Amino acid sequence: MKQILVTGATGELGTTVIETLLKTMRAENISVLTRKEERKTEFEQKGLNAFIGQYSDIETLEKAMENVDAVLLISSGDQGDRMQEHKNVINTAKKKGVKNIAYTSRSLKDKNTLVNKLMTEHFLTEDYIKKSGLNYIIFRNALYMDVLPLFVGKQVFEKGIIQPAGNGKVAYVLKGEQAEAMANALMTEKFENQTFNFTGDDAYSFYDVATALTELSGKQVIYKSVEVEPFKKIMLDNGVPKPMVKKIVGFNLDIKNGQEATVTNELQHYLGRKPTNLKEGLKLLFNL
Ligand SMILES: NC(=O)c1ccc[n+]([C@@H]2O[C@H](COP(=O)([O-])OP(=O)(O)OC[C@H]3O[C@@H](n4cnc5c(N)ncnc54)[C@H](OP(=O)(O)O)[C@@H]3O)[C@@H](O)[C@H]2O)c1
Repeated sequence: MKQILVTGATGELGTTVIETLLKTMRAENISVLTRKEERKTEFEQKGLNAFIGQYSDIETLEKAMENVDAVLLISSGDQGDRMQEHKNVINTAKKKGVKNIAYTSRSLKDKNTLVNKLMTEHFLTEDYIKKSGLNYIIFRNALYMDVLPLFVGKQVFEKGIIQPAGNGKVAYVLKGEQAEAMANALMTEKFENQTFNFTGDDAYSFYDVATALTELSGKQVIYKSVEVEPFKKIMLDNGVPKPMVKKIVGFNLDIKNGQEATVTNELQHYLGRKPTNLKEGLKLLFNL
């Protein structure tokens, strides 16, 4: 790989991807895309090729993909027309003669039984890449461990955990480790149409999360698994907007149904060490 374009380069995932690439690659061999002028300048000061652009603006994508032979498409957020944005990046890569594409998908067990329909767009993007004829690497990333403080709420040590996830387990990975492993794979693999499931080396339920938080804080944290309707009422009564409640319920039901529980050692291979386990991760994330 001579020249890689990293999209989402200013984001949390993208930042660590770039930092890791820079340990081995020359800055001039890395191109980045951002919507922010000040971030473009920062990248340029570090010697990278920075482009102002966005997934919905094909002309900007074309400029950023000039003389590029690999693109890392970091999936777009779910606010806009994510599928069309992804198609724009893939189509432009094809048009500009980019040979290789990598994509950040999600590690989920069965796309046909997903409750959170937003997740199906990852599989549609995978299919679109496969049909494009580009050489690909698909990173099926586990749920970031970093989402746990958001999931369990600021008052977890006073109120415990209430979720409709039953005993469902998640093979959480810290976002930074996900990014590091991805960058290492990008530098060592040849885009031979591979799909990697980048998961933690164990999967944990909210009972496990509660136990770990209890042990780390010395305060008793209890997880109560509730049914969907009472959970929705609690969320709505707390002022959480309806679409967000739907999304949170979808996440939880997918967890309950075992969608997030797959464990592989593929991340560990590219990370070059054991991924951070739940207790170590929660210690970091909650500053305990
Ligand atoms: N595995 C998981 O658990 C999990 C959880 C949450 C999200 N995700 C996925 O992972 C992605 C990256 O996560 P993150 O934490 O790094 O997100 P983040 O910190 O919010 O960063 C988002 C990045 O995407 C870029 N971006 C957003 N909309 C864009 C657009 N329309 N055109 C071009 N660039 C755009 C932003 O660039 P500028 O602002 O510089 O333009 C920024 O660099 C998310 O977008 C989401 O799809 C995965």
